[in-house]
Amino acid sequence: MIQRTLGTTLTALAAATLLLAAPAAHAQGQKLKVGLMLPYTGTFAALGTAIENGFRLQLAEQGGKIGGREVEFFKVDDESDPSKATENVNKLIKRDGVDVIIGSVHSGVAMAMAKAAKDNNVLLIVPNAGADAVTGPMCAPNIFRSSFSNWQPGFAMGEVMAKKGHKRVVTITWKYAAGDESVKGFKEAFTKGGGEVIKDLTLPFPNVEFQALLTEIAAAKPDAVFTFFAGGGAVKFVKDYDAAGLKKTIPLYGSGFLTDGTLEAQGASAEGLFTALHYGDSLNTPRDNAFRLAYAKTYKLQPDVYAVQGYDAAQILGVGLNAVKGDVSKKAEFAAAVQKAKIDSPRGPFMLSKAHNPVQDFYLRQVVGKENKVVGVASKALTDPARGCKM
Ligand code: PHB
Repeated sequence: MIQRTLGTTLTALAAATLLLAAPAAHAQGQKLKVGLMLPYTGTFAALGTAIENGFRLQLAEQGGKIGGREVEFFKVDDESDPSKATENVNKLIKRDGVDVIIGSVHSGVAMAMAKAAKDNNVLLIVPNAGADAVTGPMCAPNIFRSSFSNWQPGFAMGEVMAKKGHKRVVTITWKYAAGDESVKGFKEAFTKGGGEVIKDLTLPFPNVEFQALLTEIAAAKPDAVFTFFAGGGAVKFVKDYDAAGLKKTIPLYGSGFLTDGTLEAQGASAEGLFTALHYGDSLNTPRDNAFRLAYAKTYKLQPDVYAVQGYDAAQILGVGLNAVKGDVSKKAEFAAAVQKAKIDSPRGPFMLSKAHNPVQDFYLRQVVGKENKVVGVASKALTDPARGCKM
């Protein structure tokens, strides 16, 4: 009787000790909780879906496991609404207790996410949003980006347009971080190359009432227009620009989001447009061809830049988590492994900067039929200046 009681006590003690000593081993045995905070409704809905598709494809290629752990997804539709972003990200962090967050598309949403990730020391991989601050003043050891900074494609296009000999340019975009920062990057390179921005036009995100602004462009008679729009808004802008008769008289250029994932809907209105981006439809490398084939087979869709960024978010997570054998608490080792890695991306191999933003080539692309055909390199191994990052 005593024996049995003692035995029971010992067993209970042993179990308690195991529980106390177990976090790392325990965590590895458990599923990895991945929070997807993306837009599934609104003007960026298709972008969110492409990112998730890319992420899931890469996960499948890793055998359904990351860092030896099976994955459980927790999803939030952020609606590209910055006013709901803190509450939404806290659902993932506090309610669901996720190990890593993947998100988002909209720069304003991503900035709220970066703050929450930093405050709670949760891993965050940004698979699109370009907010310069995320790898600038808000940079942190636990925050990574698989996409770009807003400065990058703007800067690349500024160089190209200056070289083409354009002198007087009007810019038009949504009034929020992504628009403002794309235009800022553009201006930096364009003015350095001898150009002048004669007017900056904006409208609130995600408005698409472009008529009055198109009339202003016609009246200003610039040599060319530079723009940042994306998703559903980009579809409407390209069509309206054409319908207003401007396409024939004032060449339109943009960061490549203008024509990525949008060509089916834009039809002939997009034909011939030049844009700059870190991906294109005709790279024709074995790596990209394999990715495109796998994506098309899985989803019955052609991939776009967003799919690539989602795919590479999973690759970055895999590199980091393999190095720490699935133990997300080892943030410094995770970051060190990612920092050393060359990510074998469909866009071409890239490494992350010290601020954790991709150092990558920006391609010059031209729309030919349903493709963003790569016609050159706008800017080679372009590194975001990471202004304000102290890490
Ligand atoms: C952004 O808000 O940072 C953003 C959104 C859509 C894009 C690119 C950037 O295609």
